Amino acid sequence: MSEINIGLGNHDDKTRLEAKSNYVHFWEKQAKNLFWFSPWTNPLDWNPPFAKWFVGGTINASYNTLDIHQKNKSDKPAIFWEGENGESRILTYHDMWIQVQKFANVLKSLGVKKGDRVTIYLPMIPELPISMLACARIGAIHTVIFSGFSASSIKDRITDSKSKIVITADGGYRRGNIIYLKQVIDEAIVKLDFVQNVIVIERIKNKIKLSSKDLMWNDLMNNISNVCVAEKLDSSHPLYILYTSGTTGKPKGVLHGTGGYLTHLYSTFKWVFDIKDSDIFFCTADIGWVTGHSYIVYGPLLHGATQVMYEGSPDFPDISRIWNIIQKYKITLFYTTPTALRMFMKFGEKIPNSFDLSTLRLLGSVGEPINPEVWKWYFKTIGKEKCPIVDTWWQTETGGIMISALPGLETIPLKPGSGTLPIPGLDISVIDEYGKDVLPNTKGYLVIKNPWPGMLLTLWKDDEKYYEAYWSKYKNCYYAGDYALQDTDGYFWLLGRADDVLKVSGHRIGTAELESCLVSHTDVSESAVCGIPDEIKGEAIIAFVVLKQNVQKNNMTLQNELLLKIRNDIGAIATPAQIYFVSVLPKTRSGKIMRRLLKAIANKEIIGDTSTLENVDSISEIQSIFEQLQESIQKKSE
Ligand code: PRX
Repeated sequence: MSEINIGLGNHDDKTRLEAKSNYVHFWEKQAKNLFWFSPWTNPLDWNPPFAKWFVGGTINASYNTLDIHQKNKSDKPAIFWEGENGESRILTYHDMWIQVQKFANVLKSLGVKKGDRVTIYLPMIPELPISMLACARIGAIHTVIFSGFSASSIKDRITDSKSKIVITADGGYRRGNIIYLKQVIDEAIVKLDFVQNVIVIERIKNKIKLSSKDLMWNDLMNNISNVCVAEKLDSSHPLYILYTSGTTGKPKGVLHGTGGYLTHLYSTFKWVFDIKDSDIFFCTADIGWVTGHSYIVYGPLLHGATQVMYEGSPDFPDISRIWNIIQKYKITLFYTTPTALRMFMKFGEKIPNSFDLSTLRLLGSVGEPINPEVWKWYFKTIGKEKCPIVDTWWQTETGGIMISALPGLETIPLKPGSGTLPIPGLDISVIDEYGKDVLPNTKGYLVIKNPWPGMLLTLWKDDEKYYEAYWSKYKNCYYAGDYALQDTDGYFWLLGRADDVLKVSGHRIGTAELESCLVSHTDVSESAVCGIPDEIKGEAIIAFVVLKQNVQKNNMTLQNELLLKIRNDIGAIATPAQIYFVSVLPKTRSGKIMRRLLKAIANKEIIGDTSTLENVDSISEIQSIFEQLQESIQKKSE
């Protein structure tokens, strides 16, 4: 495995040893970088699988991201906002502070109290971080929903979190199209009487229908005080719920706390991105996902950093948009996804080469494994062989980055495709089915053996599921659900999901969620969903469907109905690339669908052991249907 050595090649042994000798003490030291209203009395209460960090300490996320910068950085831009249509706004740390306090007072005036949930369904506009920080200021728990989710998904999430306030916009721009967010919310909350108010921001300024629950953001912000003292909250006070897909049919409400989470973000933002006061940071994620929560909102603002927040699609109005933004704002630190890079790479190096990218000094990748060829392209074409690449592995549940190179701490050789080493203070291993560490270069399951500060508190109102999903496979050990291996240098190589979760364009989609959506169609009796490799998206979804008897509709009509159902029930991001209609699914004698076989057929791999299969004939039928369809797709494209 080739190495790229662009630094001195030094480990920070001192920090790593210190962290290893006493990880609790190490994190305690990092926590002191934050502002605490009162100090903790116990650094860690570890009652597996529940961890409480900095017990007895009181803190506020909004205070740590805004108030602390008012003395020295109040005029420094916090956000350079770039609209998809070319508009721009600049918000300084002072502007953010005032807006957040005003909106916090708005929420209070509507009866929002500490611990109440507030759902936020907004496009990438500054009012999104403002809303989140306003919640944090008063101790309300924000729950942001990605603006691509459908009314039905939103309804499930609002119902689960019992949010009494929903914040949305009249609409948003996405690849030149308008998405009518307010309409989606109207549909989602029809029967949700506990939702007291919907606050609407005017983004596209179209005519919208207002109900008695609806209030306009601008009206509310007009005559309200701009002073709101930040609540002194317990370190483990919940900061947010973020729903993410797992192996069950229902998304999980990952619950994050405050003091530990902020400590993790403060430290990783410094070590991974090597943040300096003069840097301009640009993360292309959407705040609707965890990357945006941690490394657009909390991490950069804790450091008083300046960043660019881009509203729209990376390929609008054309594929050069991101390079244009880097040139325009003189970006120094750039954080994006392998899916975006694969798309850029497809269009060749001529486009990025025609922009001035010379301000870049560090590049990052997140969300899915980055292929070595793409890594090298990123390094050479975008970084001009002078920028280290940080390939950051982490999850919604981990809160912050867990495995990555750390240019802000040490300069170790990089290996294209490897995340390198864990963050100091974390105990990460690759183990086998029986819980034993595997030998170097052997594939196994990635686990985390110690609690860490950014770790989720639990799943919202479901401690049992929390235990079941992450802590039941191995005793007192967090099961991440990923395959990995460690090479002889101890470097980690992430090898994709080990469970029934797909990664499509870096977005997490549970196969069970899709299957339960498909079988809720009146004509469907059974379904199985799996992923196949996709050149750009990393993975594409395919679905196998068994129809009920005597269904008269043709396959084309049914396919369209099912695709529409998925878009309506989940959202466009979960749309399968292909649906295959089969008469039976391969099952074990105990009735479990053997997805492994479906995946092997779809990937044209060797089928392997079929001795536990109940219905061996199903294999040849599925194989033949799959091949016929592939042929006809090929013919059509010729
Ligand atoms: O499979 C891993 C993959 O993304 C999963 C977590 O997804 P999510 O909670 O949506 O968070 C994504 C953003 C942090 C992981 O279980 N993953 C994330 N980063 C990487 C990765 N796979 C390989 N390399 C990465 N750098």
